Amino acid sequence: MYPGSFDPPTNGHLDLIERGAKIFEQLVVAILRNSEKSPMFSVAERLEMLRELTANLKSVRIDTFDGLMVEYAKSLDATCILRGIRAISDYEYELQMALMNRKLEPTLETVFMMPADKYSYVSSRLVREVAQAGGPVKGLVPEVVEQKLREKLEPAYRFHDEMHEVTPAILSGKEKKRKKRA
Ligand code: PNS
Repeated sequence: MYPGSFDPPTNGHLDLIERGAKIFEQLVVAILRNSEKSPMFSVAERLEMLRELTANLKSVRIDTFDGLMVEYAKSLDATCILRGIRAISDYEYELQMALMNRKLEPTLETVFMMPADKYSYVSSRLVREVAQAGGPVKGLVPEVVEQKLREKLEPAYRFHDEMHEVTPAILSGKEKKRKKRA
């Protein structure tokens, strides 16, 4: 079982799901329902996106859970928790969580995998931050997620795009003045 918030799913998540699917007979990607008070994407939207993104992976199922993760894992008869570690900075939190989960359910093992290094800096939080400011998230999230972000944050993207159209004009104006002075 691969638990997480997936708000939104990133290319790093997808990379890890693909790696997990190669190792485990079955993989349940489990979205935590109450992770944040005001998530960017509803659980239904995240479920739909992840289902679409993993439709080609027959051993992968997407589900949601609430409450203690180990209890949901037990209800699935899962033997392993899959988590991704991108950098040393992830390690401390992941170690704490793995040990707490072991304390809660000693029969459940946590397995860590590393996503491709090109995604080592990609997180849902940073993707949200960049997208909320109308910045490009191409290559960081799958296309379907990029599209959903654009739909959701249309005003931010419009503002950003307009700024980019205006900025060269402003700059060229400044440049002209500078040349005139010189
Ligand atoms: O993608 P995230 O936000 O890093 O995932 C964190 C998640 C969902 C795996 C973790 O918060 C979790 O399992 N929450 C469920 C509640 C729980 O069991 N907490 C104890 C974990 S030690």
